[in-house]
Amino acid sequence: MKPQILATGISGLVGTRVQELLQDKFEFTDLSLATGVDVTNYEDLENHIRNSPAKIILHMAAKTDVDGCEDDKIFGEEGKAWVINVTGTENIVKIAEKCGKKVIYISTDFVFDGTRDSYSEDDEANPLNWYAVTKHEAEKLVLEYSNSCVIRIAYPYRSTFSAKKDFVRRILDKMEHKETVIAITDHIITPTFIDDIAKGLGEFLNKDLNGIYHLVGDQSVSVYDAVGMIAAEFNYTDIDVRSVTRAVYFKERAFRPFKLVLKNDKIKKLGMSMCGFDQGLKIIRQQMLSARI
Ligand SMILES: NC(=O)c1ccc[n+]([C@@H]2O[C@H](COP(=O)([O-])OP(=O)(O)OC[C@H]3O[C@@H](n4cnc5c(N)ncnc54)[C@H](OP(=O)(O)O)[C@@H]3O)[C@@H](O)[C@H]2O)c1
Repeated sequence: MKPQILATGISGLVGTRVQELLQDKFEFTDLSLATGVDVTNYEDLENHIRNSPAKIILHMAAKTDVDGCEDDKIFGEEGKAWVINVTGTENIVKIAEKCGKKVIYISTDFVFDGTRDSYSEDDEANPLNWYAVTKHEAEKLVLEYSNSCVIRIAYPYRSTFSAKKDFVRRILDKMEHKETVIAITDHIITPTFIDDIAKGLGEFLNKDLNGIYHLVGDQSVSVYDAVGMIAAEFNYTDIDVRSVTRAVYFKERAFRPFKLVLKNDKIKKLGMSMCGFDQGLKIIRQQMLSARI
C-alpha cells in the first residue's frame, strides 16, 4: 500500500506536476475547491482531514497572484489574500495538531527583501509586498507547530501546464508571437524546475524533516539574462527585447525585491540535487519536443 498524503493546491501549477511524478509512490487526496474543500472553512476542512489515515498534509494552496494579492491589501485580514494564505494555513495547522498529522508548507522566496547577496534558511525574512507578507505570516504559524516544515520554492517552471503560465511560458509565448519581451534588468531570481521540486518533495514525504528548507534551482540569473537564455535554448534569434528596471515596471504593481539568490546547501547536504536554469531549459525543451511526437 502506498502512503496516503492529504494535499491542498494539488490542482495548481506545482501541485499537478507533483502528483503526476509522485503518484506511483504516494496516494494523494486532493483537498481543493474543485473537490469541494475550501481551506478557509475550518469545519469543512476538519471533516476531510480527521477521517483520513494520512499522516502528512502537504499544504500548497494559496492565493498566488502577487498583484491580485496587493489589491487585497486595503482589506487587511478581511481580504482574500489574508484569508486564504494566513487563515487557511492557520486552519490546517490547528487541525493537524489536533489530529497528530505533520504539515509540509510550501512557501516562497518573496519572504526576503532582496537586499543581501544571498539568503540561507537562517536569514531573517522581511517581505516587501502583501502576497509575501501573507506567506510569511503563514510560515510563522506553521513553524510554531513542532511537527512541521516550511519549504520555500522560487520562480517554478515546467514544460506544459495550460491552466496557468509560469514565467518561462509567458516569455516563450511573447517570442513565439513576435511580441516585445519586457526584460527586467535589476531583478535577480532563482528559477526552479518543477520536476526537481516534485522529486525533492518526494524526499520530504519520506523523511521526517522539520524546520525551513530552500528547495530551489542551482543558478540565479537576472530576468534580463533569463530572457537571453530562453531565446538561445529555443533558437529565437530575432526578438524584440525591451530592458526596464523594477522601479519602472512595478510602479503600478506589487513591488518585487532586487536580488533573490536563495542558497540550497541545506537540501544538498540531504542528498537532493537541483538543476541550474540552463539545464532545466534543456530538459523542458526536450519534454516539449517529445510531447509533440
Ligand atoms: N507560482 C509561483 O511562482 C510560486 C513561487 C513561489 C512559491 N509558490 C508557492 O507554491 C504553492 C503552489 O503555487 P502554484 O503556483 O502551483 O499555485 P496555483 O497554480 O496558483 O494554484 C493554487 C492552488 O491553490 C488552491 N486554492 C486556492 N484557494 C483555495 C481555497 N480557498 N481552498 C482550497 N484550495 C485553494 C487552488 O485550488 P483550485 O484549483 O480548487 O482553485 C490551486 O490548487 C503556493 O503556496 C505558492 O505560494 C509559488
